[in-house]
Amino acid sequence: MSEHIIVRVAGVVEETAHVRTLRLEKLDGAPFTRFRSGAHIDVVGPTGVLRQYSLASSPLESSSITIAVKLEPEGRGGSAAMHEVKVGDHLKIGKPRNLLSIADDADQHLLVAGGIGVTPLLAMAYELYTWGADFELHYFTRSREEMAFAELLSERVEFRDRVHLHVGVPRDQQPEILEGIAGRLTSASHVYTCGPVGFMDQVRAVLAPTVGDDHVHIEHFEAAEIDTSGDSTFTVELDTGESYEVPADKSILAVLEENGIEVFKSCEEGVCGSCVSGLLEGTAEHRDNCLTESDRADQIALCVSRAASDRLVIELY
Ligand code: FES
Repeated sequence: MSEHIIVRVAGVVEETAHVRTLRLEKLDGAPFTRFRSGAHIDVVGPTGVLRQYSLASSPLESSSITIAVKLEPEGRGGSAAMHEVKVGDHLKIGKPRNLLSIADDADQHLLVAGGIGVTPLLAMAYELYTWGADFELHYFTRSREEMAFAELLSERVEFRDRVHLHVGVPRDQQPEILEGIAGRLTSASHVYTCGPVGFMDQVRAVLAPTVGDDHVHIEHFEAAEIDTSGDSTFTVELDTGESYEVPADKSILAVLEENGIEVFKSCEEGVCGSCVSGLLEGTAEHRDNCLTESDRADQIALCVSRAASDRLVIELY
């Protein structure tokens, strides 16, 4: 984490049996710098595990920020520790970063959430409401019991007329609902989705033919499975001339660090975008979940992506 501050947990709400929200304030009570909706932050939990969490609160609210933490029983223990955090505890957080943000030239905005993926879309809904923009939020959950933010969504004026809940709809029946929504969109509409990978793939497959692939914005919060069995050695060269061999069992990021080169990093799973650098020459094998196809023409995530050519030339940001 490059720059960080210590914050105090000012409120904890158990949203569901597995999801809790934490409201965070600065220690001196000073306001937070305004962030753009769709942003996420690095959070170092009580056990030192660093993870990214999307901001759920309104960007207009500066006295505190809110994150949602889902308990991941199969995880590295970071979420379990965050479920033990109490009011008054301190956490270390980084600056908000956006891989997802609102397009300012859309005729309509469609927010499509799968489960806890609703978190960044809530912040976007607050902002779109403030703009007076035309938007809908469609929220798919397995059950009412697993629906985080239920009270907020039914009570707040920003949400109550624009939110459509789809509870218990099996994955194979969701396309029919999305096709119905597609009929109201145009090629000038933008779609924003966050949720499990298969869910987002389906949202893209159904809605991209109407709005265009570049108008479907995806926020990943989990790393994709990567097959490393065919990995081989290649050379990475910096624009400043230094050249290093990247063996099959190491990432570009790891090799650069071993050679004393500092690279911004956070998730090390291709999700957060911290390590993204310029790609000047060579063909990359992109394995990240944070760059768009057009980004990939000249950028690469150093923590996961490799070379499909013998040599890559990169520029560190
Ligand atoms: S460190 Fe997060 S994408 Fe590379």
